[in-house]
Amino acid sequence: MLFKNSLSLNSYINNLPRGPVGLVPTMGSIHKGHIKIIRKSLNENLYTIVSIFVNPTQFDEFEDYINYPRDTKADIKILNSINKNILIYTPKSSDLYGDNVQHDLFNFDGLDLIMEGSFRKNHFDGVATVVKKLILKFNPLNIYFGEKDFQQMVIIKNLLVKENLNTNLISCETVRDKSGLALSSRNSRLSEREKIEASLIYKTLEEVKSKFKYLNEKKINEYVYNKLKNTNCKIEYFFILNEETLKPYKKITNHNKYRAFIAVRLGKIRLIDNIKL
Ligand code: PAJ
Repeated sequence: MLFKNSLSLNSYINNLPRGPVGLVPTMGSIHKGHIKIIRKSLNENLYTIVSIFVNPTQFDEFEDYINYPRDTKADIKILNSINKNILIYTPKSSDLYGDNVQHDLFNFDGLDLIMEGSFRKNHFDGVATVVKKLILKFNPLNIYFGEKDFQQMVIIKNLLVKENLNTNLISCETVRDKSGLALSSRNSRLSEREKIEASLIYKTLEEVKSKFKYLNEKKINEYVYNKLKNTNCKIEYFFILNEETLKPYKKITNHNKYRAFIAVRLGKIRLIDNIKL
């Protein structure tokens, strides 16, 4: 069912028996990664709200915002074919932001200053602004995020604690295509040739995982930069970090808590991925 504003969606839910609400925030161009998360929410809640909103305040490049793929009609069709009971929320900007389309400023204890945050100024303030607005509107019991955007997930966990929001964050593993490339709405802008090169990203991460046991960090870094050197994948960053604190790797501590993170520019497209080590 389709709702273009939160008022109509909330009054619809309020007229039904009470039950757990799961919220899946998306920017649309629904793919199998989104679908896996949505199915999880359908299994775990009585009501599942899927929001589709390309959030302007999280884009630092206007061109990226304008070029972000949008096909709400196709999205609605896909969602209805999965389950007719999905509550699809496709707001206009004014429903969330009124006439003040700006991000708030948050303190994420530095989690937002590295990786994506250092390449995309105020990106996470924009993400947190819209996620907080969605939570306050629908008061979901559970909110769902993908590990594909791992830093986003860690920051939203921080937001829930800082803002005393009574919602559980549920994470979902990254869904990949046959080549290993993490599904992303932006992949639709890659040429066939670029897609082949993009599959090197996950292959490299898999090799990092196997080398992590016996190579030091410097050697792993060298390996990663060498592996992608003669390709069109230009590395913006590669880090091995603690997956809870996003702090750098320390030799002595428990190996189980680490994750490798990578961002690559391929032509005009930025791709990110990560793997548990
Ligand atoms: P979007 O990129 O549409 O992603 C929506 C959700 O799907 C996010 O939680 C993201 O991590 C997850 N996701 C994307 N690709 C995935 C994949 N291949 N496997 C598993 N999960 C995947 O992330 C955003 O939108 C926005 O920043 C948003 C949170 C909606 C705020 O505007």
